[in-house]
Amino acid sequence: MAETFPLPSTQRAAEAPILELAGVTAGYGATVVLEDIGVALPAGSALAVLGRNGTGKTTLMRTIVGQADLHRGHVRFDGLDMASEPCWRRTRLGVGYVPQDRDIFPSLTVLENMTVGARPGRWDTDRLFGLFPPLANRRRHFGNQLSGGEQQMLAIARALALQPRLLLLDEPFEGLAPALVETLLRVFAELRRSGLSIVLAEQHARLALGMTDEAIALVRGRIALEAASHALLDAPGRLDDVLTVQQTVTTPKLQE
Ligand SMILES: Nc1ncnc2c1ncn2[C@@H]1O[C@H](COP(=O)(O)OP(=O)(O)OP(=O)(O)O)[C@@H](O)[C@H]1O
Ligand SMILES: [Mg+2]
Repeated sequence: MAETFPLPSTQRAAEAPILELAGVTAGYGATVVLEDIGVALPAGSALAVLGRNGTGKTTLMRTIVGQADLHRGHVRFDGLDMASEPCWRRTRLGVGYVPQDRDIFPSLTVLENMTVGARPGRWDTDRLFGLFPPLANRRRHFGNQLSGGEQQMLAIARALALQPRLLLLDEPFEGLAPALVETLLRVFAELRRSGLSIVLAEQHARLALGMTDEAIALVRGRIALEAASHALLDAPGRLDDVLTVQQTVTTPKLQE
C-alpha cells in the first residue's frame, strides 16, 4: 500500500485530513489507470496534481467524485469512506468538481446554470457575481452563447453554489487568455482565503506550484514525485524527469 502524502506541518498533522486516498487503484471498468495512489490533504490547504497528457489527472478527480471505478484502496472525505457513496451524495457532502470540459448546460441561462442544485450558504448568487463580474452582465445569456473563459467562470461559480468544502479544479486555465488567467488567479486567492480545500490538476507546473501548498506529479498513473510546492518552485529541475522542461521553466502559451 502507498505511503500517504506527508503533512506540511506538525500543527496540521494533528488534524484529520479532509481528503485521504490510500492505496488507490482505479480506472474505467477493467482498465486500470491509477495505481497505488496515496494522498492526505489537510483542511484548508491546496494540492497541485501535475503530469503530462494522459497521466491520470482527470481520472484522479473522477475517482474522488465517484465517476471512475475504484478497484482497490480507500477514498475518505472528512473521515467518511466514500466507496459506497454515489456521485450526487459526494457533492452533497461537500465535494465540488469543476470538470475539464466544463459541462455547461447549453440551453440554460447563466443564472440557471449557476443555480441548478444550489444550496444556501456563503456562496450565494450575489457573492458569485461579485467574484465573476462578467457573468453578472451575462446572467440571461444561454450557455451556448458564452466564450470559453465565461464558461470556465460559470463552471466554477456553479460548483461553488453547491457550498463545497473541497473543490476539485481540472485544468481551469486551459485555453484561457492572459486577462482571464489573471481573473482566475484572483478568484483562486479568494477561495484560499475563504478556507476552502483545493485540488488543482494542471499541466503548467509553475502556475500550479505558485498557487498551492503541496504537489504530486503523476507518471503513467502513479505518483512519481511529491513535495512542497515552494520546494519545487525553487528547484524546478526536480520535475524534469516527470514533466517536459518547457512546462517547468516557461510561462504557458495562452490563447483564447
Ligand atoms: N472513460 C475512459 N475509459 C477508458 N480509459 C480512459 C477513459 N478516460 C480516460 N482513459 C485513459 O486513462 C488515461 C488517463 O487519462 P486522464 O484523462 O485521466 O489523463 P489526464 O492526465 O487528465 O490527461 P489530460 O492532461 O490530457 O487531461 C489515458 O490513457 C486515457 O486514455
Ligand atoms: Mg485531464
